[in-house]
Amino acid sequence: MMGGATARVPAKINLHLGVGPLRDDGFHELSTLYCALSLYDDVTVRAADELSVTVHGESRRQVPSDATNLAARAVVALAAHAGTDPRVEITINKSIPVAGGMAGGSADAAGALVAAARLWRLDIERDELLAIAADLGSDVPFSVVGGAALGTGRGERLLPVLHRGEMHWVLAVAGTGLSTPDVYREIDRLRARDDADRPAAAGVARPDALMQALASGDVHAVAPLLHNDLQPAALSLQPMLRRTLRAGREAGALAGMVSGSGPTCAFLCADADAAVSVAAELSGSGVAKAVRTASGPVPGARLVQNN
Ligand code: C5P
Repeated sequence: MMGGATARVPAKINLHLGVGPLRDDGFHELSTLYCALSLYDDVTVRAADELSVTVHGESRRQVPSDATNLAARAVVALAAHAGTDPRVEITINKSIPVAGGMAGGSADAAGALVAAARLWRLDIERDELLAIAADLGSDVPFSVVGGAALGTGRGERLLPVLHRGEMHWVLAVAGTGLSTPDVYREIDRLRARDDADRPAAAGVARPDALMQALASGDVHAVAPLLHNDLQPAALSLQPMLRRTLRAGREAGALAGMVSGSGPTCAFLCADADAAVSVAAELSGSGVAKAVRTASGPVPGARLVQNN
């Protein structure tokens, strides 16, 4: 482990995901409220003779271990910015579901940026790091920042959001992932079909009521305000998710929704005990490949002791 640096990076869910019209650059205008959860990937970076990526964890076979891995692209982008040699060995210990709508790839990119900046002792401004993060993917800046934040633009422009207390969640991980571009294409298709006679939405409103509920720390006020515009598209591509959502609510969750572009479903629970009981019931119901509990908001990518 000599000379390495490790960053621990949380998964995210979107408490609100408002999707506006498709822009000319192929992205959709968003108004989203991100929340970082206590489910982490660890990304370690060490100097090496060539750039490599090794992935550990149950889902390692679903993650590319070549230069297309977002963590490798992050290191290359940071090295180019700093005029540094990008050759490092990247090791990812994955706990965040792959292609699950929880920003697992973005977390790895954020972790690689923070760890490599440390390894190379770069004197880089936070804003510069966030600009490199934004070029890598819409969710990467949030994976760096963590906590709770309002995301606008394509999700990369962030404003911190006031929050009180801790929320307890149950995550139902599906057996098959969903591709984010596929889900966005599906929402465009559904909207074109359903709204053929209506003018395109002008923009996306800020989730003010939800932000107030978060500031109050009252989960019972937060629960009815959770919203995801991508949910109909994810359900259209994976109709079985309806069963998962129903099972979570029947198990006693305050509310449930598809996380981001899915297919992971996130259930908000009244407290930690309720989350354990909802998780146990969901595990027994057989609707998900894996069930996890997590709490949040938690901080974003941070260096951890390497030993
Ligand atoms: O930014 P990221 O690489 O995560 O985006 C993956 C894909 O998701 C984009 O290529 C685009 O198809 C879709 N997307 C979108 N609007 C956004 C974010 C992502 O259409 N705001």
